[in-house]
Amino acid sequence: FDGNNITLWKYESWLPVKKIVSLNEGGTPLYRLNNLEKILGVKELYAKNEGANPTGSFKDRGMTVGVSKALELGMKRVACASTGNTSASLAAYAAKAGIEAYVLVPSGKIALGKLAQAIIYGAKVIPIKGNFDDALRVVIEASEELGIYMLNSINPFRLEGQKTIAYEIYDQLQKVPDNVVLPVGNAGNISAIWKGFKELYEAGVIDKLPRMIGIQAEGASPLAKAWKEKRKFKPEKNPETLATAIRIGNPANWEKAWRAVEESGGMFEIVSDEEILKAQRILASKEGLFVEPASAASLAGLIKLLNEEKVDRDESFVLVTTGHGLKDPDIVLRNFKLPEPIEPTLDAFRRVIE
Ligand code: F0G
Repeated sequence: FDGNNITLWKYESWLPVKKIVSLNEGGTPLYRLNNLEKILGVKELYAKNEGANPTGSFKDRGMTVGVSKALELGMKRVACASTGNTSASLAAYAAKAGIEAYVLVPSGKIALGKLAQAIIYGAKVIPIKGNFDDALRVVIEASEELGIYMLNSINPFRLEGQKTIAYEIYDQLQKVPDNVVLPVGNAGNISAIWKGFKELYEAGVIDKLPRMIGIQAEGASPLAKAWKEKRKFKPEKNPETLATAIRIGNPANWEKAWRAVEESGGMFEIVSDEEILKAQRILASKEGLFVEPASAASLAGLIKLLNEEKVDRDESFVLVTTGHGLKDPDIVLRNFKLPEPIEPTLDAFRRVIE
């Protein structure tokens, strides 16, 4: 029955490898956010829900292509640095492929669900004393010195898989949205999605391109700060945000991301951790969509841009919700106290709801 699933391999002829390792990634739902359209006064608002991928994030799109490539090249060991989702995804695809995965994660700064995933899929999890940027530096050196295949998003095959987000948005919407809004960390995904749209444009499939709008968290916003201050990009030394997925100070793909935003006539925006948490709650409580904090940055950014009238309410917007909310349950429970247990009687229940 495998062949009946709709996956990103629908676009195999647009991808640079044959399908070798797959967990039926892609084919994620595009939701119309009709409650939020009313609340925010926006004409057309959608979420491309990447949390519906096999390991709960968009990284699976990159890994099916990346790990397939690794096998094609005869590689027996793969590695990545990660704030969590990349490690979970690589671990799963390496398991399926029967090869060894090493994942380097910033010690103490990775959401619980993601860590559990990397462990159970059987990767060798290596916490490092440092942040994502430090981990990435080590992995790049290891790939050069130790012959381990590196599967961070500077590996172009990762981006080839992730560009299918653009194909699917067009396929599902049957048109190109005016704006695509997404969180930016290492800046691979925004580059990949832009590449996908440009390919469709160059092939004559579509006749317009969307604006790419990249959102960064205040404490980890080297791209957005440079953009807003109209100055050159400069990495940040000590990135900090509770959206740990995008806690990155030196985005490896910053140049590609900058070009995507510039060429598309888009923009970068900065949101606070508080705005991110608020947006996470709104998405869940108004749309039934539970996403992790980094993903909620997309909605937080849109709300800010609407308030500041930097975007047009009469246009269409697609938020890319990049990862599932269950990856990071701590963040929700930390700010919530359960009430005292009640007696198991109708009376007690009635008292509570009245
Ligand atoms: N959203 C989520 C949920 C992520 O996990 C990431 C990146 C991003 C957004 C940003 O995407 O890096 O392509 O700009 N997570 C990486 C990781 C860094 O290691 O899992 P990007």
